[in-house]
Order: sequence, then structure tokens, then C-alpha cells
Amino acid sequence: MSTLITDIGSLVTNDPAHGGGPLGLLTDAAVVIDAGTVAWVGPAGRAPAADERFDAAGRALLPGFVDSHAHLVFAGDRTAEFNARMSGQAYSAGGIRTTVAATRAATDAELDANLARFVREALHQGTTTIECKSGYGLTVQDEARALRIAAAHTPETTYLGAHVVAPEYADDPAGYVDLVTGEMLDACAPYARWVDVFCEQGAFDGDQARAVLTAGIERGLTPRVHANQLSYGPGVQLAVELGAASADHCTHLTDADVAALAGSGTVATLLPGAEFSTRAPYPDARRLIDAGAVVALSTDCNPGSSFTSSMAFCVAVAVREMGMTPDEAVHAATAGGARALRRGDVGVIAPGARADLLLLDAPSHVHLAYRPGVPLTAAVWRAGVREA
Ligand code: NIG
Ligand code: FE
Repeated sequence: MSTLITDIGSLVTNDPAHGGGPLGLLTDAAVVIDAGTVAWVGPAGRAPAADERFDAAGRALLPGFVDSHAHLVFAGDRTAEFNARMSGQAYSAGGIRTTVAATRAATDAELDANLARFVREALHQGTTTIECKSGYGLTVQDEARALRIAAAHTPETTYLGAHVVAPEYADDPAGYVDLVTGEMLDACAPYARWVDVFCEQGAFDGDQARAVLTAGIERGLTPRVHANQLSYGPGVQLAVELGAASADHCTHLTDADVAALAGSGTVATLLPGAEFSTRAPYPDARRLIDAGAVVALSTDCNPGSSFTSSMAFCVAVAVREMGMTPDEAVHAATAGGARALRRGDVGVIAPGARADLLLLDAPSHVHLAYRPGVPLTAAVWRAGVREA
């Protein structure tokens, strides 16, 4: 069953072969989807026939958002911590342990239901690809369980046993790194595509992070790194050196860090929800883009530092606070996320791509930043299936 989506006022393809600029913009366009993939893209007047027809009524269509950084297997809530922060208290990595306790105490069914709820919540806001990390279990069983549950919802699963040192190992961080690179990795690798580490004061230093990532690489996982979020540090350089798919956060960067990212295949994934919710200075996207780095935008959705699943919110903040143009921010939230996940089939509307589409209740993708906080989802297709 093929579907012709026609009378698209403004179409973001992210395929420069199809239209203007890096967004590959087309006006008065049409898209044909068939068997879960994009079959045809072009001017509405030249569209081929299809089994059914959807009238976009002049509105904007773009690739579904690719949220390449989220922590969605957890239980509990940290409202009190957020509330205290908004009254002046600082954010620290240690808050993670609050969620670890609640997550360990939850049943598999509770964790699965929570995750399903967040995936659905994101989908209804246009997110058609979502990455999901472990990291709130911190025992062999609890990390493996988190990844097993995540893998039932997304292929983009990330082993983050090295989120913080587990409370049981507070006096023996080296012993915890041994566990993360040994028995825990063995239990988790079958369910994970990626390996990640929180390289930060209060979490893991450069040497520990290197040990975690190289052990993961040896097991066939590809690295990504929580780097330079709360302070300057070795995370970004390590990510680049190890050929990580992305260095995430990138809030505190030296000129050498920016140059390293620009000269690499490592995507700088910026997570403005974290700075918003920890009342911290935003990363400088302009500096990274001007240097030539590839930038992605993601939610970092988690109960501690960024409890939003809204990619539209991240786009709006990135435009207002991080020096991005609306075109750059929309590109980063779609094609950028796809690059960060090394996916060629999403983040783009071109023949052969997965039919992941977001129709906005607006004439242009610019409205994502121009109308902050307004629900603009008119329709969502994931692999050709209408989901919202
Ligand atoms: O990406 N930085 C490390 N991990 C999360 C925060 C997790 C938490 O506070 O629970 C982040 O911001
Ligand atoms: Fe994170």
C-alpha cells in the first residue's frame, strides 16, 4: 500500500541533491511512501500515482527527529532535587545514585512500562529514532536487565555501566572499573550497540574512561562519551582519539577540543535540556559549527539533569541561546542525530530512506523555534506507519 503525501508547503529533505541548502528544502512538494520506505520525493505537480493520498494542506514536513542521547530505563522521580536547584543548589553527578536506588527496586514490568511511556511520549512529538542508555542499575544484573528492556524498544542501546561508581564500590573505584570492563560488560554486550562513560569529576577520570571504552571496543561495541559536561577535561580528546561516534554535552571546550572535534568523524552532540535544567551555561554551538564540527541536538532525557523528551524544545533553546540558526538546529536534530548514530536510513527524506516523517501544524520548520512551547505535531509516520 503506497501513500502520496502532497501539497507539502515546505519540505526538509536534508538531501542537498533534492533542494536548496544543507536542508535540501523544497516548496510545493510531494513524497510517496511505500512498504515503510520513501519511494519518491519531488515537486507536487510531478508526483506519481499512489494507492492513497494524504493532503498536507500547505504545511511543513521534515524527517522525524533522531534523539541520539537519552536515559530512559529508570524508576522514581527527582522533583525535589530539581526544585532545590532552582532555589540555588548546584547540580552534581552524585544525584544519579538516587535514581539507581529506585531503579534497582523496580520490577522489570515497571521499568518496561516507564520506558514505553517515554518512547510513546517522544514519538507523539515527532521523535522516530531514539537512543537509550543503561546506567541506573550499576550491578551486573541490573545493567543487563536495563539493556534487555531497552533493546525491546530500540536498536540504539548503549551500555553505560560507567555512569558513576556503584555505591557498593565507593571505596574501591578501581574494583568497579574492573567489574564494568569484565563481568558486567560480558552480561551487557549482547544487548548493546554502543559503550559510553561519564568522563567527569565525581564520575570517571580519563584513564578509567579509556579502560571502559577500549574494553567495550574489544567486545564489538562502538564508543560514545559523556564529555566535558560540568568541567573541562579529557573526555572530548579521548572520544576523538578512540573514533567515538559522538562526544556528548561538550559544554566546556578548549580551543584544542574544538579543533579536535572539527578534524574528526566524532559528532558533537549538544544537550541543551541539561543546561536548562541545571541552570548552567549553554554550550557554544556557533563556535563548533564555525570550526567545522558536525553538531547534533538531543534531549538527554533523564530524571536528574534533563527531564524533557521534546526535541522541539531543544531546537528552540539551541536557536535562542546557543547561536544556531533555525536551519542548523533542525538539521542537527534530524541529520545530526543520524550521524551521531551512524545511520544513513534516518534523518533524511530521500528515496530508500525509512519513511520517518513529521508533519508540523505550521508552514515552515522555522516555527519549531519561532513558536517555542507550542505543540506543533500534526502527524507522525514511523517506517511508513502513521503513529500520531
Ligand atoms: O547526561 N551526565 C551524566 N548523566 C546524565 C545525568 C544523569 C542524572 O543526573 O541522573 C546526563 O546529564
Ligand atoms: Fe546523558
